Amino acid sequence: MADRYGQLMRTPAGRVLSRQLGLPAPVQLERHEPGQPVISGPVLFGGAPGGRLATAIERVLAAIQADFRAPETPAPGHEMFKALVFDATGINSSEQLLEAWAFFHGAIRRVRDCGRVLVLATPPEGCQAPPEAIAQRALEGLVRSIGKEIRHGATAQLVLVAPGAEADLESTLRFFLSPKSAYVSGQVVRLHAGARSAEHLNWAQPLAGKVALVTGAARGIGAAIAEVLTRDGAHVVGVDVPSMAHELDALSRRLRGSSVGADVTDSDAPAAIASYLLESHGGVDVVVHNAGITRDKTLGRMTEQGWSSVIDVNLNAPQRIDRELFARQALRPDGRIVGVSSISGIAGNAGQTNYATSKAGIIGFVQAWAPAVFERGVTLNAVAPGFIETQMTAAMPLAGREVGRRMNSLAQGGLPVDVAETVAWLASPGSGAVNGNVVRVCGQSLLGA
Ligand SMILES: NC(=O)c1ccc[n+]([C@@H]2O[C@H](COP(=O)([O-])OP(=O)(O)OC[C@H]3O[C@@H](n4cnc5c(N)ncnc54)[C@H](O)[C@@H]3O)[C@@H](O)[C@H]2O)c1
Repeated sequence: MADRYGQLMRTPAGRVLSRQLGLPAPVQLERHEPGQPVISGPVLFGGAPGGRLATAIERVLAAIQADFRAPETPAPGHEMFKALVFDATGINSSEQLLEAWAFFHGAIRRVRDCGRVLVLATPPEGCQAPPEAIAQRALEGLVRSIGKEIRHGATAQLVLVAPGAEADLESTLRFFLSPKSAYVSGQVVRLHAGARSAEHLNWAQPLAGKVALVTGAARGIGAAIAEVLTRDGAHVVGVDVPSMAHELDALSRRLRGSSVGADVTDSDAPAAIASYLLESHGGVDVVVHNAGITRDKTLGRMTEQGWSSVIDVNLNAPQRIDRELFARQALRPDGRIVGVSSISGIAGNAGQTNYATSKAGIIGFVQAWAPAVFERGVTLNAVAPGFIETQMTAAMPLAGREVGRRMNSLAQGGLPVDVAETVAWLASPGSGAVNGNVVRVCGQSLLGA
């Protein structure tokens, strides 16, 4: 469903209208094009004195050939930056939060359209003393507010780097600095120590030689995930219900992947999927639990069938599939599991008690298992999409659809590819330190914020 309001507001007349009436003015978000650099435009990189990440960040900025400079470096006063990167790990007390103000105060109005603001900090639970933990926690308020202030398609994130994870920044910085994170803003992401580092990664095809299972791959977000994982080098095994065989087979042919027709809730589906992966590919490296359904009704009108079908597809099936894959050792070392939650699972939604329960359960699934699987070198994270332009949201009544589209810092809906790019970052061999996160792909929606 086309966003006609967004299209109108991008015309010269629309821009005048939006300025005069104070209407939201969504800009056309920049999205990744093959062959383009990670970031185009200068990066301002600074930090509070005593921070521990300067060398690691500089190494990544050099690796991506970013044109970066320090705040002390003389630069024309009118220079506009594509990204502001601030190492806040040196902040040990709330008094020192002034360092963050000093960095951003002069620079924040010099962020280009679709620019990036990244603050890197220490997870409060990894801090040496309470005053440091308090100050590091305070940065969440700063970053989420920047996300709401900057506008013009720019985004802001807080990356919490545990002591010992300094060498594992690259995949996360590449994602958040690039147009691949177009619809992700206001997020707090944790990087853990103790990950196995992926050496000599080919960043253009990080999943080369890997096998990825994507459920619900025949259309919508699942099809976009299959496309992006294939672009990144994976052989994708798509799963969807037999009634979608035509669409699924067409996608698999186009992507040179394979397909398995199965209803993920069938009692024999986990065994059939695991057997296929073991027999045809010797195992699997990436598992994306994307298949999902809605059966909306207020709770008093909801039948047991309406409740159970949603919980079964969205929450029971991912657990059953993972149990089978682990039991048969089908998930290879350095495996990646990505669940698909929803902001309904964070904020709740009238008429969606079943759906919101299932999607909050996916967050529980991540929290319950992520620490244990990490010990085996596996990561488990989830994405939580907000309003994404798919057949699911095109079927919503007009008023609800417009509210859903506009109630976020970017004033527009996301595209399936935005969710897919986020999944691809989490699935990358370079993202071994990224574990136990639920990353919202919602343009910093006001819901559940
Ligand atoms: N579209 C959004 O705005 C949005 C927002 C938040 C979360 N999500 C989640 O993203 C995921 C994909 O959503 P979408 O919008 O692409 O939906 P969609 O309905 O377009 O696609 C879902 C796919 O899953 C398949 N599927 C459903 N039940 C299945 C089963 N039992 N076994 C195998 N396959 C099954 C469907 O056939 C379909 O191909 C879902 O988990 C959904 O809850 C979507």
